[in-house]
Amino acid sequence: MKVLGIESSCDETGVALYDTERGLLGHAVHTQVAMHEAYGGVVPELASRDHIRRLIPLLERVLAEAECTRHDIDAIAYTAGPGLAGALLVGASFAEALAMALDVPALPVHHLEGHLLSPLLADDAPAFPFIALLVSGGHTQLMRVTRVGDYELLGESLDDAAGEAFDKTAKLLGLGYPGGPALAKLAETGTAGRYKLPRPMLNSGDLSFSFSGLKTAVLTAARAVELTAAAKADLAAEFQEAATEVLAAKSVAACRRHRLSALVVAGGVGANRRLRQRLDAAMAKIGGRVFYPALDLCTDNGAMIAFAGAQRLMQGELPAPATGAFVVRPRWPLDQVV
Ligand code: KG4
Ligand code: ZN
Repeated sequence: MKVLGIESSCDETGVALYDTERGLLGHAVHTQVAMHEAYGGVVPELASRDHIRRLIPLLERVLAEAECTRHDIDAIAYTAGPGLAGALLVGASFAEALAMALDVPALPVHHLEGHLLSPLLADDAPAFPFIALLVSGGHTQLMRVTRVGDYELLGESLDDAAGEAFDKTAKLLGLGYPGGPALAKLAETGTAGRYKLPRPMLNSGDLSFSFSGLKTAVLTAARAVELTAAAKADLAAEFQEAATEVLAAKSVAACRRHRLSALVVAGGVGANRRLRQRLDAAMAKIGGRVFYPALDLCTDNGAMIAFAGAQRLMQGELPAPATGAFVVRPRWPLDQVV
C-alpha cells in the first residue's frame, strides 16, 4: 500500500510517498526559512500562500523520485493540526481534493504523532512501549507510547516550548531566524558556566518543564554585562547547558518511573547535538538507549505524516471516503487522538 503524506502546518512544505512493504519511496521538503528571515519569524499569511505554490511541484518531484504516477497512490495522509490555521487549510484542502479526484481515502494526521513515530522509519527502530520526548518550536512533552494511537501525556512545558526558548534567546542575543540552530552553533564557541543560569524545575519531582524564566534570566544577565561577541557565546553555551540538562534529566526520570529502556526523541530541537550527547550518556547509565529520527526527518516533513497515516491504516483504521468536507485543528492535544 502506498500512502502519500502532506505536511503544511508551519513553515515547511513536505510531501512524501511511503510504501508499507518497501519503505520510503520519495520525500521532498521546501523550507520557507529564507522568505520569513526578513521578518524575524514566521508570517502566517505568507506561509499559507507559499504552501500553495510549492505543493504541486513537490508532489511531481516525489512521484518522479518514487518512479510512480498519482494513480499508484492508495491513500493520502495530511497534517490536520496542530499548527497555523491557514497553512493547515492549504495542505488539508490539497490532500482532500486530490483524494477525491483519485477516489482514494484521505486521513487527517496529528503533526506530533508524525514526529513521535518518525524514529520508527529507521531500520533500527525501537519496539513498543517507549517514552517519547517531543521537543519542537511549539511543544515540549514527555509521552508514554504504548502503541500507535495510544499516547499518555506524562508532563509538558507550563509556558514556553524548548524550541521557542531557543528561538527567543537567540533573538535577544541578536542572532537570526531560525534561532535554535544559530544559538546552538554559537554555543559551541562559548564556555558554559561563566554566567550562571537557573535549571528551571530540575528538582520539581514531576515531569513538567518551564523555559520562560530561563529566557528572562538570559535577558537579565545580558543587560548586566557588556555584550561582546565572547559574552554572547558564553551566554549561549550556558543557556544550552541549562535547557538540555533539564530536558535530559526529566526524560531519564520518565523512563525510570515507567521502567522503560527506550527513549524516542522527536521534533526540531532533537537535532541539537548537546541534547543528543546528554541523552545518550544519561540513558546509557540506566542501561537504556535513545532512538532518533534521521536528521532530515527531525524537522517538519511529509515522510512522518505518510508513515503515521500508513500505521493507522495497517492497524485496521477505516478512513472515511474523501467527500471534500474536512476540518483542521490548529490546537489539538496529542492525547486526544483516537
Ligand atoms: O519540529 P520543528 O521543525 O517545527 C515545529 O515546531 O513543529 O521544530 C522547530 C524548532 C525551532 O524552535 C528551532 O529553533 C528548533 O526546533 N531547532 C533547534 C535546533 N534545530 C532546530 N533548537 C536547538 N538546536 C538545534 N540544533
Ligand atoms: Zn514539527
